[in-house]
Amino acid sequence: MFQWTSKYNIDQPTVDEEHRELFAMINRIGEDIAAGDDSVDELESALDALLDYARTHFADEEAIMQEQQVDPRHIKRQQMEHRSFFYEIEKLRSLTADEPMAERYEKLLTFVTNWLIFHTLRTDQQLGIQLRAIAAGSEPAQAFEQSETQALSAVLYRPMVEALVHLWSDAMERVHELEKQLAAGAGSSTEDASRLEST
Ligand SMILES: [Fe+2]
Repeated sequence: MFQWTSKYNIDQPTVDEEHRELFAMINRIGEDIAAGDDSVDELESALDALLDYARTHFADEEAIMQEQQVDPRHIKRQQMEHRSFFYEIEKLRSLTADEPMAERYEKLLTFVTNWLIFHTLRTDQQLGIQLRAIAAGSEPAQAFEQSETQALSAVLYRPMVEALVHLWSDAMERVHELEKQLAAGAGSSTEDASRLEST
């Protein structure tokens, strides 16, 4: 559960409203998983609705950046991060396909939550700095430099770092799982080879 508060706003009404709604949707799905009374179909369509909303939100955010003529370096970073979100979630979806329902959706939702916390409290905050600087008369390139060097507000650090630690440890867990699979694969191919040799 992550409670969005106005301290996390970037002072762009559309973006702020959509960020708030994204986390509200996540929390509703989390409550449904905890209550345990939703079917796979219901959870699957709730997740699809959340991803659809995220897609619309990313498109809105990118349109605002173009409109405000935000520096292309930042726009490119945003586009890459937004795309990687869908890539990662689809990968996790297929990786967890055989897991028990509650565990699977908890994993998916945890990933979505931490990814969005990290992105909205870091990359989108840097966008906020630039939009405010541009509104105050800065050139986009100058606003970009400012967003790269200006320290983010202290209230953002704790949830941002916690989200990063979760993302990191989940990724490490998947790496260890892959290592085990590779080792098991290597073991069986060595057995195959020795069986071949003995015949
Ligand atoms: Fe973004």
